Amino acid sequence: MQAWRVHTPGEPIEAMRLEEVPEPVPGEGEVRLKVLAANVNFPDALLARGQYQIRPPLPFTPGVEICGETEDGRRVIANPSLPHGGFAEYVTAPARALLPAPDTLDDAEAAALHIGYQTGWFGLHRRARLQSGETLLVHAAAGGVGSAAVQLGKAAGATVIGVVGGKAKARTAEELGCDLVIDRTADDTAQVAARVKEFTGGRGADVVYDPVGGEAYTASAKCVAFEGRIVVVGFASGTVPAPALNHALVKNYAVLGLHWGLYAAKDPAAVLACHTELTRLAAEGAVKPLVTERIPLAGAADAVQRLADGTTAGRLVVVPALDGGGSR
Ligand SMILES: NC(=O)c1ccc[n+]([C@@H]2O[C@H](COP(=O)([O-])OP(=O)(O)OC[C@H]3O[C@@H](n4cnc5c(N)ncnc54)[C@H](OP(=O)(O)O)[C@@H]3O)[C@@H](O)[C@H]2O)c1
Repeated sequence: MQAWRVHTPGEPIEAMRLEEVPEPVPGEGEVRLKVLAANVNFPDALLARGQYQIRPPLPFTPGVEICGETEDGRRVIANPSLPHGGFAEYVTAPARALLPAPDTLDDAEAAALHIGYQTGWFGLHRRARLQSGETLLVHAAAGGVGSAAVQLGKAAGATVIGVVGGKAKARTAEELGCDLVIDRTADDTAQVAARVKEFTGGRGADVVYDPVGGEAYTASAKCVAFEGRIVVVGFASGTVPAPALNHALVKNYAVLGLHWGLYAAKDPAAVLACHTELTRLAAEGAVKPLVTERIPLAGAADAVQRLADGTTAGRLVVVPALDGGGSR
């Protein structure tokens, strides 16, 4: 079969190589899945660079979530067992963690309903306890994780402010339903905070969802509301903030860490319950993964590189059938 593999960590476009390799063999408790669609995630870029918290043995195939087909013909969502990641024709995955792909979504959308939406759900509801009527500020609102948080925030009855980089992403965030969109490339950090304050009548944002870090975090701390909650989701900017805890004390706000993968490991029942809820919201049309590009397997490295460069909106999804892949 064909699979992208990283032999030496580096920038995705250089480190990932498309190769002919044997199909992976399922280990104890695993199944083999045919890849129908593999969603591109920021962690794929970090994996290729050797900067992710997990370092699979070399060579490995990136691709952390897929919609796949079981050998008995079921369409499922899965997190492949690295080193056999999703940018390939076949993967292996733990049998007990397979989730049914919603009938209302195509393969690419189903693949994209998983990590971004689960992370959004656990971040907004379990960690930050977002309430209807509160104001939610989402950084990188047009991105994969951000677009999911915007839709989940709207579905929860929140007023949603999206921060984005550039005019095209601003249009995407507006189409997603953001009540206010702030273009960080037009407004500096101080201006982002000022515009949030102005829009909320001086109160600030009750919940901040931050997959970016760096200056995004600086702006968040300036405009978080009394008893607000900042959810630390990721560091796409490359800068891990070092927040001043005296500031959290004097303003009465909370900084909440979020690592969705730990819920998958420690509380699989909650992940399943979340999937049931996400499937219901998708069936009602309250959420719909923003798949902006469906890409053949041959285009995976380029897609991971563009995501790493911060130039993409929504989700890029690799669909092996588009280049005739996926047949044994
Ligand atoms: N905590 C968890 O459990 C969890 C789970 C999944 C993902 N994550 C994290 O969530 C983050 C987003 O992942 P994603 O796959 O949805 O990516 P994404 O948000 O689609 O892409 C990253 C976005 O970050 C913004 N950005 C700002 N500065 C950047 C820079 N210097 N380089 C690149 N991007 C920059 C860009 O949006 P703008 O230009 O609009 O600002 C860019 O589009 C990642 O940090 C990822 O590791 C965390």
